Amino acid sequence: MRLIKVKNYDEMSERAAMLIAAQVQLKPDAVLGLATGSSPVGTYQRLVDWYKAGKLDFSEIRSVNLDEYAGLKGTDPQSYRYFMEDNLFSHVNIAKENTYVPNGTAEDLVAECGWYDANIKKLGGIDLQLLGIGNNGHIGFNEPADCFIEGTHLVDLEESTIQANARFFDSPDEVPRQAVTMGIGSIMRAAKVLLIASGETKAKLIEHAFAGPVTPQIPATVLKLHPDCTVIYCE
Ligand code: GLP
Repeated sequence: MRLIKVKNYDEMSERAAMLIAAQVQLKPDAVLGLATGSSPVGTYQRLVDWYKAGKLDFSEIRSVNLDEYAGLKGTDPQSYRYFMEDNLFSHVNIAKENTYVPNGTAEDLVAECGWYDANIKKLGGIDLQLLGIGNNGHIGFNEPADCFIEGTHLVDLEESTIQANARFFDSPDEVPRQAVTMGIGSIMRAAKVLLIASGETKAKLIEHAFAGPVTPQIPATVLKLHPDCTVIYCE
């Protein structure tokens, strides 16, 4: 694991975008595992800028997102599908049919989870997985638990996660209580993992978590076992 501490959010975003751009150039039909949240916004902005400058081509890229709130339609501005359209997909030449975000309004969410895993397999697995980290150490929406969950699953969000994500909603009551998240297995099978985080609290969490043992109580610690994981963070 490479832990890279940088000066600020801009430098974190620049470095992360450079690694993703390198992946796109090395393998034009790569499968990118994508994330939402405040951390990747600057990274996506740079990818959009480089696309507009003619430096990147997403026409053959496939993408799979980590997670989605249960019960939110992709047209809902709080949904992660909407976030991806707004921050990346609608600004670059990725083909919409090659972008996958779990369907949080599927009638049968368990079947949706199975389909999502099968689809990742069909795509040939993830070449580069981008991650953020929750205040409780979650990756995707894999919340602290007694064991790591392998596949895509429906998860009850922790109160601390609901509070942390309430900033994107008008009130905490509006934050969905459940989400569909890719499991730890798909994340760990990605050829490369890139985790980004910013802010004093997250920086402390990263330094604490990766200095300690692997435990499902801090899900991100599993990344210590990944053969090619880069963590770029700042205070
Ligand atoms: C949400 C997402 C995570 C993300 C986390 C951190 O909980 N499900 O995938 O990593 O937020 O978000 P931020 O980047 O805003 O700190």
